[in-house]
Amino acid sequence: MEVKIDNSFKPKYSDLLDGLKPFKDGFTLANLGPLPDNFPDKGLGEKKVLDYLAPIAIGEATKLDDPLAFAHMDPPTPWITWIMALWNASLNQNLLHPAISPVARDFETKAIDWLCPYFGMNGGHLTPGSTLSNLTALWVARDLKGVKKIVVSEEAHISMKKSANILGLEFETVPCNHDSSINIDLLPPDLSNSCLVLTAGTTAAGAIDNLNIANNAAWVHVDAAWAGPLRISQKHGYLLNGVEKADSISISGHKWIFQPKDSSILLFKNTAEANQSISMSAGYLSSSNIGIMGSRGAIGLPLLATLMAWGKEGLAKRLDGCMTLSDELHSHLLETGVHIFAKPTSGVILWRPKDPYSADEIFLRLPAGSASLTTISGERWIRHVAANPNMEIDLLCSEITAAFGY
Ligand SMILES: Cc1ncc(COP(=O)(O)O)c(C=O)c1O
Repeated sequence: MEVKIDNSFKPKYSDLLDGLKPFKDGFTLANLGPLPDNFPDKGLGEKKVLDYLAPIAIGEATKLDDPLAFAHMDPPTPWITWIMALWNASLNQNLLHPAISPVARDFETKAIDWLCPYFGMNGGHLTPGSTLSNLTALWVARDLKGVKKIVVSEEAHISMKKSANILGLEFETVPCNHDSSINIDLLPPDLSNSCLVLTAGTTAAGAIDNLNIANNAAWVHVDAAWAGPLRISQKHGYLLNGVEKADSISISGHKWIFQPKDSSILLFKNTAEANQSISMSAGYLSSSNIGIMGSRGAIGLPLLATLMAWGKEGLAKRLDGCMTLSDELHSHLLETGVHIFAKPTSGVILWRPKDPYSADEIFLRLPAGSASLTTISGERWIRHVAANPNMEIDLLCSEITAAFGY
């Protein structure tokens, strides 16, 4: 029996999920103690491993749908994606080989086709994260357009510096305006050998660079990992005006499209041309391998399922709801008289207390998971990110007031 994979255990999916509830109250399913120190000689068996791991993996995990969760760019995920992730794990499709992923490829293409028109792009592919999407876009820029240098704002994501190192490109940073958006007056005059990277939603402050600028760059990439999905919203889509001028765009699925890790969307204006420069063939492959990943899973399935389940309206409503939450927090902070970094543009809000308090000190008094800390130009800021539509802003406001001892 043990030489085969025994999948005869078929719990009802809903039973597994119902099992999570008691863990939230600190209850452990089977008090088996700490994990074994060493790789066991004899297997413990799948069911016992569930008993070991559930109280830890689920019971002790951060709950991103908590009413106070407001700290990071990581959203709670809708249950439709849990089912799709389970299907993916059980089917284990590999998009590298069309023969063993006949429909999985179509799901990805369909989801990309639905999203492209919002961004003026005509195709692309999914990657496991926007670090990889950015690296791939810059790889295309180098090999297709002979780009020698990456030009980014000082507040661009670290994946740009990583990409420059990996691809052997020069790296130049441009100072930012007071709100962390790129200061376009300080762009180098000649970008003809450069890839200009603009950010739609900087990691620390959520700032959106001016995407509408005229420039002579050899390639323009927009890192819209965070704020990209706002383009779907009729109310907030204008914030990304100009994005359609880009040659490539990265958007994280696992941020504001509420996807499980690992999900990022890489789009190109001219996909056929871009793909040529990042495709490789090998004798064992029946079609070219496009991009950095070799084997890769069907992450298009949960994405497609979410887009279908919610529609444009449903996704936009959740994003608009998140934006309202950050506006409400901003109003509350204005009343409390703390220093505010800037009016939030994409649901990220930074503040710090006035003397005699420090940001670090007040941060420690806030509930875990409600805030993070960031440093901009040497100054410490308390940071909130509106990634959780389920959060309760009044609760957070009273926690902030309580942190000052009022
Ligand atoms: C603006 C921006 N770009 C890129 C990334 C990298 O994305 P990932 O963590 O999916 O690799 C992030 C992550 O926070 C980000 O905020």
